[in-house]
Amino acid sequence: MSDEQELYHAADKMAADYLAHITDRPVFPGPDMVAQLEQLGGALPTQQNDPHAVLDMLSRIGGAATTATNGPNYFGFVIGALLPIAGAAERIALAWDQCASSHVNSPAMAAIEKTAGQWLLEILDLPRDTAVGFGTSATACGFSALAAAQTYLLRQSGWDLDRSGLRGAPPVRIVVPDTVHVTVKKAIRLLGFGTRDIVTVQTDDFGRMRPDALPHFDALTVLCLQAGDVNTGEFDRFSDIIPTAKAAGAWVHVDGAFGLWARASQDKRSSTDGVELADSWTTDGHKTLNTAYDSAVTICRHADLLASTMNAEAAYAPSETDAQKNLTLEFSRRAHGLGFWAVLQTLGRSGVGSMVDGYCALATQLAEGCREAGVTVLNRVVFNQVLCQLADPADTPAFLKLIEQDNAVWFGPTMWRGQPAFRLSVSSWRTDEDAIRRALDAIGRALHQLECQKNG
Ligand SMILES: Cc1ncc(COP(=O)(O)O)c(C=O)c1O
Repeated sequence: MSDEQELYHAADKMAADYLAHITDRPVFPGPDMVAQLEQLGGALPTQQNDPHAVLDMLSRIGGAATTATNGPNYFGFVIGALLPIAGAAERIALAWDQCASSHVNSPAMAAIEKTAGQWLLEILDLPRDTAVGFGTSATACGFSALAAAQTYLLRQSGWDLDRSGLRGAPPVRIVVPDTVHVTVKKAIRLLGFGTRDIVTVQTDDFGRMRPDALPHFDALTVLCLQAGDVNTGEFDRFSDIIPTAKAAGAWVHVDGAFGLWARASQDKRSSTDGVELADSWTTDGHKTLNTAYDSAVTICRHADLLASTMNAEAAYAPSETDAQKNLTLEFSRRAHGLGFWAVLQTLGRSGVGSMVDGYCALATQLAEGCREAGVTVLNRVVFNQVLCQLADPADTPAFLKLIEQDNAVWFGPTMWRGQPAFRLSVSSWRTDEDAIRRALDAIGRALHQLECQKNG
């Protein structure tokens, strides 16, 4: 075996050993493990080191201080785990080390991402002639979609953004729900919009934009809706809202970072009815679909427009209009669509549907258990998110501290309607009924300890 092969072999063995214990390892690293991370720092090495020693150090010290997000017991944020085929495909792709900018750079990756894009439109049942750009995150992909929206609306009003820039341009307004995700706000800010350009619409008791509270739409409005609110998992009422906005000439963007995958489930699909009427959509692979991190997508109905907005043609790097470098922020890039291809090729339509249905069924089970334990479940649990509140919401930090010390499962805090709450997300293919039981046991233990603390 060559040195190179030996090194990769050693890495594969370490990775396999890590995964063999993923269910039993502490879900969050203990303070001693975190303290050891100092050993990965220190002065910049002046001499060469043995790659095996470097790998060993990384695996021992770094690995010990990881959060077990790839396991069944992590319910924080909407993290998602990694399906074996998605991880394995990335492993091969690392050996290939393709710069997947265009066909000229990598015929293999260009073909794979093209197919992944077509399959994605099929499984999400979105208009088939749209552009599909694979990027690193819903944040970055949302940015691209909103950049296209801005270009489009200004162009329609007779303003050439490429020539004249933003200064002096007709004012574009952005309409968002009061539950809008922070990363959409970030994209809006980076695109040059100020808070005075943003109109925030109240949501109903479920967390959906209220159709009776909509502002006036016109041809200089971008409306941002959500397929899957991060707290409640709720879906905006697309059929009731999008036609009105479109009739006025507005652009409609849907942030579906994790919830757009409801389209793949026969049971849940109707929550997204009408979403196909929008102009642009974003979703992640690294959440619901359980691909590796840095895998997301911008889908844009106006294919040429996305391609001209994100265009990165250079004399030394000519390519097709719909090359990935012309649809995304990155120029040199790895194939962020590879994980989508690998998972869709492996699970197919029915497998993805079952995975999504599985999350939803387990989330419902979790919510029932929480209610039985005396916790208020604030949402309807329409998807994979369970939003909870203690009888006294002010107890939330102490309760979460106990959950953290117990270290059987992990989930974090949030705020709902100005009150502390906490949220569990079922988004790992490894989470099963045992993991739900472990979560409910941990919640029961923490509630009991909290009661003891309060009673002195
Ligand atoms: C609804 C929603 N939108 C956008 C994002 C941002 O996604 P990413 O972390 O991939 O940028 C998230 C992340 O949790 C989310 O839940």
